[in-house]
Amino acid sequence: MQASLQESWWIRDVEIPTRVVLAPMAGVSVQAFRRQGRRHGAGLVCSEMVSCAGIEHRNERTLGYLRVSSDEHPLAIQIFGSEPAAMAEAARMVEAAGADIVDMNFGCPVRKVTKTGAGAHLLEHPDLACRIAEAVANAVSVPLSVKMRRGVEDGSRACLELGPRLVAAGAATLTLHPRSAKQMYTGYADHTLTAELVELVDVPVIASGDVTSRARAEAVLAATGASAVMVGRGAQGNPWALREIVFGETEQPSREEVAAELIHFIRETVRELGERRGSSFLKKFYGWYLGHGRFPKPFKNELVQLDSTEEVVTHLLAAAPGAADLLAELEADVPGDEILLEGMPISLYGGG
Ligand SMILES: Cc1cc2nc3c(=O)[nH]c(=O)nc-3n(C[C@H](O)[C@H](O)[C@H](O)COP(=O)(O)O)c2cc1C
Repeated sequence: MQASLQESWWIRDVEIPTRVVLAPMAGVSVQAFRRQGRRHGAGLVCSEMVSCAGIEHRNERTLGYLRVSSDEHPLAIQIFGSEPAAMAEAARMVEAAGADIVDMNFGCPVRKVTKTGAGAHLLEHPDLACRIAEAVANAVSVPLSVKMRRGVEDGSRACLELGPRLVAAGAATLTLHPRSAKQMYTGYADHTLTAELVELVDVPVIASGDVTSRARAEAVLAATGASAVMVGRGAQGNPWALREIVFGETEQPSREEVAAELIHFIRETVRELGERRGSSFLKKFYGWYLGHGRFPKPFKNELVQLDSTEEVVTHLLAAAPGAADLLAELEADVPGDEILLEGMPISLYGGG
């Protein structure tokens, strides 16, 4: 019988409370996004990909990605790189930062990453990919997961060759986004490959790609036998999509709920990134939150023009005054107990 989306499952000894995983997304998966995802039903959340070279060189901004708070667990932190010893060292840092799972990116199609030998490039270099997996699995005691695309070229089936070898090298779970790197985000995710991968390995497989509704999540789980689905773009500015997928809650959020959730997200993000970085990072989120017919279009355009996030908050509260009470509830729940890496001055963590 097919597993329920609300049922827990395990990645080795890490219990994942629901079968929905929030996708790692560069430029999106900040701590505020991950915390929000957990609150709305994601069983596991992931950081965006973190450069192993950045960790090695103690790059200030990179280390900022390693901030972990108690309400994120279980949490995977994703690293990318192409050199086994450096990846192993980065994995140790990730474990020390408090991640429950170390995830490796073998799928990023962006040239800036593939030209360094990392990301999707490794799908065509299986021996090196396995040496990296082995080095990382041996370096940490938390489980190792690997996230892959199907291959580099359209129609490639490289993931089916590589998947079992990665498991033999120590991967405790695999996530497959069955598009080719060439495809970027065009076409569709071919989950017949996910079903084939599930047959080939004896570790849990997570299905990523085009899951935006409960109906789709159930269909993908049923067709593939995967242990969980991953949700990416569908959750951007829309944590209520996670509720719909996990719990079947179909009620649309009120304007007040949307405004409260967005203001909370803005404040958390500014705390994390600082006002300057935060305010440009946040602009894309305004459209994501306020779309879906929730607020009139000109209102969104007005927000994007504003200089400071405090002005954005003022506008939102004026448009939805009832949001203030909901916001107070959200803010009361923030634990504020990040684990800071030992021996590193707090100033290393860019922003607030
Ligand atoms: C803006 C954006 C950034 C992404 N960044 C990452 C990343 O850092 N690491 C990764 O493994 N996948 C990344 N992905 C891929 C997603 O994790 C996911 O596999 C893909 O979007 C398909 O799922 P979806 O259809 O639910 O969006 C990114 C996707 C998007 C849209």
